[in-house]
Amino acid sequence: MIDGLKRLEYRGYDSAGIAVTAAGGLDRRRAPGKIVNLESLLREQPMNATTGIAHTRWATHGKPNESNAHPHMAGGVAIVHNGIIENFRELRDTLQAAGRTFESETDSEVIAQLLDQKISEGADPVDAFEATLAELEGAFALAVIFDGQEGLMMGARRGSPLVLGYGDGEMYLGSDAIALAPFTRDVTYLEEGDWCVLTPDSFDIRNARGERVNRKRVASAVNDALIERGEYDHFMLKEIHEQPESIARSIMPYVDQVAGTLDIGTVATASFTAADRAVAIACGTAYYAAFTAKYWFEQAARLSFETDIASEFRYRQPVLPQSGPALFVSQSGETADTLAALRYCRQNGTTAVAIVNVPESSIAREAGAVVPTHAGPEIGVASTKAFTAQLSVLAVMALAAARARGHLLPGDEVKAVKNLLALPRKVTEALESQEQIAEIAKTLTQANDVLFLGRGRYYPLALEGALKLKEVSYIHAEGYAAGELKHGPIALIEKDLPVVVVAPKDELFEKTISNVEEVRARGAKVILISDDAGIAMAGNRADHVIRLPDGDNFTLPILAAIPLQLLAYHVAVAKGTDVDQPRNLAKSVTVE
Ligand code: F6R
Repeated sequence: MIDGLKRLEYRGYDSAGIAVTAAGGLDRRRAPGKIVNLESLLREQPMNATTGIAHTRWATHGKPNESNAHPHMAGGVAIVHNGIIENFRELRDTLQAAGRTFESETDSEVIAQLLDQKISEGADPVDAFEATLAELEGAFALAVIFDGQEGLMMGARRGSPLVLGYGDGEMYLGSDAIALAPFTRDVTYLEEGDWCVLTPDSFDIRNARGERVNRKRVASAVNDALIERGEYDHFMLKEIHEQPESIARSIMPYVDQVAGTLDIGTVATASFTAADRAVAIACGTAYYAAFTAKYWFEQAARLSFETDIASEFRYRQPVLPQSGPALFVSQSGETADTLAALRYCRQNGTTAVAIVNVPESSIAREAGAVVPTHAGPEIGVASTKAFTAQLSVLAVMALAAARARGHLLPGDEVKAVKNLLALPRKVTEALESQEQIAEIAKTLTQANDVLFLGRGRYYPLALEGALKLKEVSYIHAEGYAAGELKHGPIALIEKDLPVVVVAPKDELFEKTISNVEEVRARGAKVILISDDAGIAMAGNRADHVIRLPDGDNFTLPILAAIPLQLLAYHVAVAKGTDVDQPRNLAKSVTVE
């Protein structure tokens, strides 16, 4: 199990733990820090068993201490969990009222408590597990073992991946086939909503309705890079589908689920409290994340928020905020222009806050404060899960800044946190449009140009949608603020020109729809990305409609990224381009 954990270490290593079904009952070892700490603990206090679960945890709220580390235990069950249990507060209140005491502040413990409660009421483990799953809301993956049931393990997948591995008289579960590679490459990728019951020589897979199902058995193609495509044709598609989990991992470190509050650390918070202004600097997709944040910071935190692309900023001798921070958004943390811009700010005494995905990168090392995204390694050159992780962290930051500046009422913060915690589940829902989007994509393959329109917080999304399409499909695409159309770009509209409109229903919706009318009147083919309220009002004015789950002003722009990514991906696949490594591009731009 330690071997398997080490292969997952890229996902985080703030604490790790292991629990086994031993002869004398459930036994557990947990240690803060890297997996080697757990390894030495096990050398001092070895365990003897044939059934067990293990977990390595990424920095979450509060200290990465032993009591917050997985596995979590309650009575006769031990569990490991990835993801978010959205209704954890309600479940915890009910369980506490029934006399149960909790030893951690994690949402994960509620699963163990709930399951144990059902078993102590007389349910057998399988029924108890099924009933527990029915009560959980959120996006998650789980593995569970039971006291006195050596050889029995159960798992469930909802939103977060889970792989089942077949051995010789042994069965395995892992959150990535990489973790199982030392034991087996004969695997099944569980499907959304699946759960399973394993013994050393049997497996029983059920779907969300509890029906027994057969799932394909495949050979995993684990390579030396320790990162594989799994069941997906491309890394880009895999990374698009990883977003329920990568967003959950990016939000959770900053959320106190018990209190329903946000915390981004003292340095970053203090930098906003008395700020006159903030600047955000980045390149490409990361820049569009920063640009979306402008709308959030200005509207929610009442903070003047300028954004700039790093290659312009660094040579302009810009006037920096007197008392506010400079934010640097970067997946790799190595982008040369962004790094140079950071150095310029530091030389001028401005607090530099880095939002980076690679914690040991140059930008992270040189910044005054780091607020990491936890998207995990992004292999596809076109950024997908790193973008939504950046947006998620920036949304949290804007809300934390709003609170620090006295513009967020406690009740509104609890509501915003609830919506953020629901985001991974909503992303899973948005991904369900994939087949429909693949069909729409076929209509774009012959296009020479595609326009993307959006207003307000959806304008940066239109820019990102156009960038994604250009990068991977090589079709010329432009993003415009919908209100800017009449000032020139409308000259481009001709019969059958595809126009993608990003417009969930908000205060600017009707204005955007007027622009839709303008392009339709000139023969354009409109693809509308909107929520139910927007579709009800204007769905009939579009040639194609892509539905978004509902959300608020913070979560809807993040949800809107999903269909834009899927559209670019499927157009590229239909055109046969090199999706993961498009021509002329590099993953990390370390030269000017
Ligand atoms: C586009 C893309 C690029 C990067 C940009 C910045 O899909 O990936 O536009 O966003 O090169 O890179 P980082 O975030 O590593 O600084």
